[in-house]
Amino acid sequence: MSRVRLCKLSTLNYRNLSPDTLDFPAGVTGVWGENGAGKTNLLEAAYLALTGRTEAGRLEELILAGQTEAYVRADVLESGSLSVQEVGIGRGKRQLKVDGVRTRNGDLPRGSAVLFRPEDSELVFGAPSQRRGYLDSLLSRLSARYAEQLSRYERTVSQRNAALREGQDWALDVWDEPLGTLGRGIMEFRQRAAGRLEELAQGANAELGSRKTLRVQLTESADPERYVEQLRARRAEELARGLTLTGPHRDDLALSLGDMSAGTYASRGEGRTAALALRYAEMQLLTERFGEPPVLLIDDWTAELDPQRRQFLLDLAASVPQAIVTGTERPPGAALLLHAAAGRFSPLTEGNRDGR
Ligand SMILES: Nc1ncnc2c1ncn2[C@@H]1O[C@H](COP(=O)(O)OP(=O)(O)OP(=O)(O)O)[C@@H](O)[C@H]1O
Ligand SMILES: [Mg+2]
Repeated sequence: MSRVRLCKLSTLNYRNLSPDTLDFPAGVTGVWGENGAGKTNLLEAAYLALTGRTEAGRLEELILAGQTEAYVRADVLESGSLSVQEVGIGRGKRQLKVDGVRTRNGDLPRGSAVLFRPEDSELVFGAPSQRRGYLDSLLSRLSARYAEQLSRYERTVSQRNAALREGQDWALDVWDEPLGTLGRGIMEFRQRAAGRLEELAQGANAELGSRKTLRVQLTESADPERYVEQLRARRAEELARGLTLTGPHRDDLALSLGDMSAGTYASRGEGRTAALALRYAEMQLLTERFGEPPVLLIDDWTAELDPQRRQFLLDLAASVPQAIVTGTERPPGAALLLHAAAGRFSPLTEGNRDGR
């Protein structure tokens, strides 16, 4: 894979964004404006168009209130040739197209963007499912095989859960073997990635000025070598609860700072810093895998951050081929500045830059 650059972004009925097409240069684009202007929405739309992914809870949220469909389109430059990626959002479904041809999620350039958000603190303070989501989303972009195995594993867990709820003891034998094989594959992949992930996040956390060592470790509910046995051993309990109780869908990516659980003991700023370090690690792993840095989408570059951490984000944005940085304050050093107001974005030229 090669470098992907966002040249144009078009949106229609996407949250509060006015229907428009915006041009993005290489280097840093700064987007600034007051609260509620649509800065986060713009970054989210860019992320969706570049990756086919969204961090929103429900797809319906993305559609302009009162409408039934939303649409985003990215004109991307990839190894010198232009292609068009389109994402249509309807109720509960999304449709992806590359150059007019329908595709599955896996077929959009998988390393193409990383989104940094203030809400990333939830990776530290939120439930294990948030950290699993982070890990799975990252590993799915690193490996199409992981993405495939994960979706087959998740399907198998829900089918097995249905059998458990119906008390079909005999049917479980059918599910345990495939679950064992898929689960083992997922655990092994996660284990292989975890060391490098920790190394990168730890380094970034220290560089961000944290004095406490960040540890990032898998806590697994099952042993890959003995997974099927472990499933069998808990079957009575599982039948009673109607749930599959061991396996990668129950695991956590435990974060600690200076040997104390980060989720329980970290200060807000320490948590935010650890979350930044995780996003940094994501960006680095994608760069290592695809040979080029992804487009960085950095939301709210000042939120909850002290000067050293803000500078880290600005330096990071300046170090990659393309970044979009939003905030209520103008990010310094941008090649293009867009002023956001009520879902519209107007470029500031040299002439009127200082006037506003
Ligand atoms: N589906 C939707 N339909 C209409 N408006 C929406 C929809 N979803 C969100 N909005 C509105 O979009 C507006 C802009 O939200 P956004 O999060 O992009 O603001 P922002 O510029 O990032 O502000 P802040 O500086 O506070 O982070 C908000 O007023 C929000 O209520
Ligand atoms: Mg915002």
